[in-house]
Amino acid sequence: MKNTILVALALLAFTASGQEKAAESKMQWFDDAKLGIFIHWGIYAVDGISESWSFHNRRVTHENYMKQLGGFTAAAYKPEEWVRLIKNSGARYAVITSKHHDGVALWNTKMNQLSIPAQTPAGRDVLTPFVTELRKAGLKAGLYFSLIDWTHPDYPGFLRDSGKYVLAEQPDRWSRFLTFMNGQLHELKTGINPDLWWFDGDWEHPADEWRAADIRKSLLANNPAVIINGRLAGYGDYDTPEQNFPVTRPDLPAWELCMTMNDSWGYQGRDMNYKTPYEIISIFADVIGFGGNLLLDIGPKADGTIPAEQVHILEEMGKWTSKHEEAIFGTLAGLPQGHFYGPSTLSADSLSLYLFVSGGSCGQVVLKGLMNTIKTSEVLGTGQTLNPKVVGKISWSPVPGLVYLDVPDGAADAYMTVIKLTFEKPVALYRGKGGLQ
Ligand code: GLC
Repeated sequence: MKNTILVALALLAFTASGQEKAAESKMQWFDDAKLGIFIHWGIYAVDGISESWSFHNRRVTHENYMKQLGGFTAAAYKPEEWVRLIKNSGARYAVITSKHHDGVALWNTKMNQLSIPAQTPAGRDVLTPFVTELRKAGLKAGLYFSLIDWTHPDYPGFLRDSGKYVLAEQPDRWSRFLTFMNGQLHELKTGINPDLWWFDGDWEHPADEWRAADIRKSLLANNPAVIINGRLAGYGDYDTPEQNFPVTRPDLPAWELCMTMNDSWGYQGRDMNYKTPYEIISIFADVIGFGGNLLLDIGPKADGTIPAEQVHILEEMGKWTSKHEEAIFGTLAGLPQGHFYGPSTLSADSLSLYLFVSGGSCGQVVLKGLMNTIKTSEVLGTGQTLNPKVVGKISWSPVPGLVYLDVPDGAADAYMTVIKLTFEKPVALYRGKGGLQ
């Protein structure tokens, strides 16, 4: 009888080592990176209006929107300074808009004249120097590329309630657009050869119209290790939830939450609705606890300076990520819900468990269903060790007791404290209902 119970309980046990990652793949650096910085930089920063959508949704005329070309100076643009900030935040990669839905290219495209080098006082390619600096700093470079190009004469869509033509009626015009778009992709893949493509706008056409399969094929032919985000009409490598935070762990091998710091992707000076560093850090902890990455957006001004509020957030992120590095980078998703009231991560070998506790909170933290004996416990980044207390362990039952951990006064982080527990064997969990049958 007792044996049966033991077997039944063992079956309910969850072995974290089962989550161990598959062999080294092209996704490995991305899985390990955890934090990326998204950059929306374009002429929309001149008037501080929403990127492309402001004319599409008729808040300004297309003509007035395009007048912003005349104000884009990049006069104070220091790509090495951007990269220093990004690297210090702890981010391992960045994704920058090479072209948004407005069609304005940041590089020196030869496919048309609508570019920062050709039509703005900046008068130069502002994309390539940034990628060069990223690579010098050992960071991966991603290019955001909008499939939609609402300004191009051969692109059918334009304003929310009126397009230029109906694709089915003018297939040649659409073919011309595709030739143009693939020409731009060719320039970027041969000129910059990014580590990651971040497509956007696939919703306006189905995969066969975009010829998404061919795009994927040609990008991989150019660089077999290149990663493609999930907005290429079903031909991407990972999912990209936007702004909305998942409540349960996404059932996906790789995913990335892209999120603004305030309510805008590009620079909008009036938008002061910033998330606090604590809010961003706690969202970040949740994301990595669910095994995802955070792609945190900044919107530089038209002269290339990064708004002070955004610099502050990046710096605070940097202090926190450097203190808690081992709990973040290269980790696996943490405990399933029910074991701990908060996010957690596991080291790649599952011999260390990291518990994230909300800022400033001292006092007791409880962990349920842990089958392992704790070898060491400490508050990460402080050198403070803890004395875990196991409560309610019944000698004859295989159900583990509850582990209570006291975070000592003064050991708490201003944003999120990280408790590190280590074990002799990979973390194993009891997932049962506590009863005997
Ligand atoms: C949306 C918007 C776009 C923004 C993007 C970032 O797709 O169209 O403006 O660049 O989200 O994820």
